[in-house]
Amino acid sequence: MPELVVNGERHDVEGPAMRTLAETLREDLGLTGTKIACGEGHCGACTVLVDGAPTLSCITLVHAVGDREVTTIEGLRDHPLVDAFVRADALQCGFCTPGQIVSASALVRDQPEPARDDIRHAMAGNLCRCGTYPKIEEAILAVAADAD
Ligand code: FES
Ligand code: FES
Repeated sequence: MPELVVNGERHDVEGPAMRTLAETLREDLGLTGTKIACGEGHCGACTVLVDGAPTLSCITLVHAVGDREVTTIEGLRDHPLVDAFVRADALQCGFCTPGQIVSASALVRDQPEPARDDIRHAMAGNLCRCGTYPKIEEAILAVAADAD
């Protein structure tokens, strides 16, 4: 039975060898903030951090995670990006938003003052069917400005 460290807590998880990290998070651990949209690694909705790196949990097998630390949107509830997304009105249906915030958290951690091009590059794997991209940029720039 593999162990999984999620948001600082250790869990025993089980399931078939082909079980994905996204399924384990949502169905076994009840962490439904991680969304599954395409389920094929194309949209970014399922993005979580694995040892700090944005990772598509729908195409990551839970057995492959090992003892690396997983951070989901639930583990980022106090991150300033959450408030910045609300203030910038950076969501419509909100389905892509957890993945957007997870990816953006890695960006502002590694690059506290990103240019717009840096943001577009870092966020390119996170699609938004509602087209909120300009507002997402605004939210990320606001967090960067506040960190000054
Ligand atoms: S649901 Fe994982 S990339 Fe789309
Ligand atoms: S807010 Fe609807 S998909 Fe992004």
